[in-house]
Formats: sequence, C-alpha cells, structure tokens
Amino acid sequence: MTASTTDTPLGTQFDPRFPNLTILNHPLIQHKLTHMRDKNTSTRTFRDLLREITLLMGYEITRSLPLTTRPIETPLVEYDAPVIAGKKLAIVPVLRAGIGMSDGLLELVPSARVGHIGVYRDDTHRPVEYLVKLPPDLEERTFILCDPMVATGYSAAYAVDVLKKRGVSGDAIRFLALVAAPEGVQVFHDAHPDVQLFVASLDSHLNEHAYIVPGLGDAGDRLFGTK
Ligand code: URA
Repeated sequence: MTASTTDTPLGTQFDPRFPNLTILNHPLIQHKLTHMRDKNTSTRTFRDLLREITLLMGYEITRSLPLTTRPIETPLVEYDAPVIAGKKLAIVPVLRAGIGMSDGLLELVPSARVGHIGVYRDDTHRPVEYLVKLPPDLEERTFILCDPMVATGYSAAYAVDVLKKRGVSGDAIRFLALVAAPEGVQVFHDAHPDVQLFVASLDSHLNEHAYIVPGLGDAGDRLFGTK
C-alpha cells in the first residue's frame, strides 16, 4: 500500500486523489505483475501472464453486473436461476497492447462484441487516431475499454471520448488497465470523472520519455516481441 491509498476488506485500494480509480491488489495479480515487470521475462510468458491477470481483474470488474432470473428445469425441480441482466457487453481494446487484455476478457464473456480503437502517440505523446471500429447499437451496451498502460492518460481519455461522442454515457464505460502513473490518472480523472478506471498498480511517476516508472517497459513491444 502506498502512503496515500486506503485498503478495503475486498482486496481493493482507493486513492482519495482519484475517486474514480480502483486498484485491484489481489495477491495473485500482484505476484503475476511482478513477473511481467521483470525484464528477463520472455514474450510468451509476458503474454500468458497478461491474459491470466486480465481474467482475475475481469472477474472483479464484472462483480457489479446486475442479475435477473430465468426459469429453468434442473433434473429435480423448476427453478428461477440467476443470469446476467441489463445491457449487453462490448470489449474495446486500445491498439495495439489492449489486444493482450481483450483476449482474456473474451474468455470470461464469450458472447461480447469486440470493437477496436487505434491510436499512436505523436512526438508530444498526444494520441493520433488511425482506426475506430465499433459494434452497432452502442447505447444498448456496457463497454469495457482496455489498455495495459495509462501513462500520460491522453490515449485512455481519448478512447473514452470516442465512445462518448457516439452517445455512450460515462456510467456505461469501465476502463481496465494494468499499470498507471499518477500523472495519467489525473488527466483521465479530469477528463472523465464519471468513468471508473481499474488498475493492478498505481506506479510512482512518468520519466522524461513518458514511460511509467517502475513500469514494465513498452507493453506492446513486450507483448508482441517487437522493438
Ligand atoms: N506505454 C507503454 O507501453 N509503457 C509505458 O511505460 C508507457 C506507455
């Protein structure tokens, strides 16, 4: 726990500076994240760990999905059994590293639609859009946006803008990341205080190249084995 965060009994932390941030500090998530941070971890292991952590985080962020019941017949009785209610889910990775998380999320919710938002960082680390592909019936869906790194926060905030400009409300969006810098979380919070941001770790700071410290390096390169 860092100096400014508060632990809760459910294994989550909150930071009073960022009311829309939840840190999922489950021991398994933290253990696996440590392996991902290690520069000697192979591409294959990095990819596997990102998928595994996403499954654990996805389990937590879907905890509040509303339930209804559906009548079924078990071999013994008729029974009103719980099923997920409400809006259908859509998963939207921010390219390219977000793909490492959307695969894990799809394992949890195989029927979800998948959109893609492609942005790259220009010389000033501002996002430049190159692709937006989204499912139809946007207002009828709950969205999980995912990108492992919230560094400057510009790309994350931009991805939310893309959805909001098309009519999606902030309370229908959850943003799932692995590691965030306080600078990026501040940018995200200022732009979208109504969107919940879930991370495995709130790291120390950004360096002069806008990399998260201690971080894990370039998530896209480590995930795909590029340079
Ligand atoms: N993107 C990354 O992949 N890593 C960082 O540390 C910052 C942005």
